[in-house]
Amino acid sequence: MNGSRMDRTRHAVNAWFLHRADGMMHRIYGQRKRAIYAGLPSAIVEIGPGAGANLRYYAPRTRLIAIEPNPAMYRHLQKTAQRYEIDLQIKAEKGEKIDLPDKSVSTVVGTLVLCSVDNPRQVLSEVRRILKPGGRFIFLEHVADLPGTALRARQEYLRRAWSWAFDGCHLNRETHAVIQGAGFAGVDMNCFMMKSRLLPFAPHIFGVAVN
Ligand SMILES: C[S@@+](CC[C@H](N)C(=O)[O-])C[C@H]1O[C@@H](n2cnc3c(N)ncnc32)[C@H](O)[C@@H]1O
Repeated sequence: MNGSRMDRTRHAVNAWFLHRADGMMHRIYGQRKRAIYAGLPSAIVEIGPGAGANLRYYAPRTRLIAIEPNPAMYRHLQKTAQRYEIDLQIKAEKGEKIDLPDKSVSTVVGTLVLCSVDNPRQVLSEVRRILKPGGRFIFLEHVADLPGTALRARQEYLRRAWSWAFDGCHLNRETHAVIQGAGFAGVDMNCFMMKSRLLPFAPHIFGVAVN
């Protein structure tokens, strides 16, 4: 993630924001994350872990391979890993091209990340490639509201400014459909709306897809 000085500033601001938002994310998502993270193994690959919002839910001494292209995140991620005793390896690469062998891992986690990647279909194809048969992709994402709703209209209206301010995050991605269409053997997907429906990222999905 090189890019212009403006891009680097946005990456740094977003890293700081995610770091500061950690407690709030825990309050909003903690209960649902605990439900889908039950029985995590001792080795996990996470796509776009950011400042490490998920590390508090991993068991101490978990071996975590972090696929994270924004170097401004690394300082926060390393500190969070130390705090929760996670054995962290950062790979400075994008989820669209993961430097791991085929069928080599049993669990991949991704939260609030398919909204931000360049190509969610390609990322899921890579996730499926590195997962063993029967391996699990655990996800939590904000998604586009149904077409024709007032909220969807607001998501469409705000999408450019939002994407600029939040480092490439897309409010109007139909990530639910992308996961359903990615070729997993099974997808257990749940939906929820955040309490304030005025928030443009209120609709969410979370669950587990099995390879
Ligand atoms: C909104 S943040 C979410 C961070 C974290 N997963 C969480 O739940 O707080 C999106 C993250 O995805 C990362 N990201 C952006 N594009 C990516 C890509 N192509 N592949 C992997 N990660 C990417 C960003 O650097 C950032 O860390």
